Amino acid sequence: MKMRWLSDLFGVNMPSTYLFATTDIGIEDLAAKEVSSLLNIRGTSVEITTGRVYFRAKESDIITLNYWSRTLNKIYILLAREGIESLSDIYRIAKSIDYTAYIAKNQRFAVRAERHGFHNFTSIDIARVVGQAIIDSYLDSQGHRLKVDLEEPDVEIYCMLRNQELIIGVNTSGFSLHKRNYRVYNHPAALKTTLAAAMIMLSNWDSKSGFIDPMCGGGTIVIEAALIARNIAPGIYRKQFAFTKLPMFTYVDMDDLKSKFMSLANTSYYPIEGIDISPYHLEGAIMNAMSAGVDDTIVFKVGDARKLRDYIDFEPRVIVTNPPYGIRMHHRNLQKLYHDFIFSVKEIPDVTIVVITAASREMRQIVSKADLELVHARKVLHGKLNSEILVFNT
Ligand SMILES: C[S@@+](CC[C@H](N)C(=O)[O-])C[C@H]1O[C@@H](n2cnc3c(N)ncnc32)[C@H](O)[C@@H]1O
Repeated sequence: MKMRWLSDLFGVNMPSTYLFATTDIGIEDLAAKEVSSLLNIRGTSVEITTGRVYFRAKESDIITLNYWSRTLNKIYILLAREGIESLSDIYRIAKSIDYTAYIAKNQRFAVRAERHGFHNFTSIDIARVVGQAIIDSYLDSQGHRLKVDLEEPDVEIYCMLRNQELIIGVNTSGFSLHKRNYRVYNHPAALKTTLAAAMIMLSNWDSKSGFIDPMCGGGTIVIEAALIARNIAPGIYRKQFAFTKLPMFTYVDMDDLKSKFMSLANTSYYPIEGIDISPYHLEGAIMNAMSAGVDDTIVFKVGDARKLRDYIDFEPRVIVTNPPYGIRMHHRNLQKLYHDFIFSVKEIPDVTIVVITAASREMRQIVSKADLELVHARKVLHGKLNSEILVFNT
């Protein structure tokens, strides 16, 4: 994907800055890989910590990442990353930052703070102290007192204290990017779009061979697959990005940018199929695919994952799925469903299967019983549920 017009817009000598992005716990390496590939960063220049990736980038990359990343939740401009001992250290660090490039005089800001570890102050204290430091810093440099708006700020400053490490950043995304804004039907057990994209990455799907989600629910996995195959920016349906309010981006014509991104999409044929046993959920999946503009790319049908051969139109090379976890299901029924699904998949040769489940012990037992080769396993956090992504081959 080449987006030379972004360099034209910002000039070749556009300033570079440190960014960091949040992602889901367990897929940080995939997020780092995605950032490297979107921004053409070589080697080990993306640092990984729990749920976060750090890297150096150009200012225009903020736009690229917000629109094009599929595994990131929020992207921030890094203002400070330092060790602290006390609240007064936090004030001192926050006060030493020049905020004029990020908050215009007529804009209102809010500080959102998060804290992990043992401290003798709360995250509310951090937000209060940093808020005061921002006002004082601006007053010193500009002679102007900034206003705070905790409900609808123009600019959101984020502070995170993890043990002794303080991070201060400017939120360029707004609400989490996993909210793509194409979901019009909310499946009760919907998968996070970022995890769906991570699973597709792990499948090494080439976009040309057959791709199936045989328990597709509201269609998240097949819709993400169609967006990847057609080179559609996942952020294209969002109405809001926080970066649009940052002074450095106010002159960017967002409508023009959006139509340029849209022009990169292709309309080729891709063999993608979504199957679910519930006609109701399938109806929802079709509505979601229509809303994402990829209903013509996916074949949806009511079917049974336990008898896959009876429903598929082509030999899939990749099956990516999020089966029920058994939360509202009797344990024996869950084991039976996993058993019948795995043994039905086993009949299809040369398939890579990627599964996410919170009942991974049960899934692992059946995969081993079916004598399928488990090639990869990783623990991920899906909402609050400890889950596992398993990759195996027939
Ligand atoms: C966890 S949900 C999938 C949610 C989906 N990934 C999403 O984001 O909306 C599991 C789905 O499996 C479906 N299902 C259960 N048993 C099935 C079977 N034997 N064949 C096909 N689908 C089945 C359920 O109807 C449910 O929609």
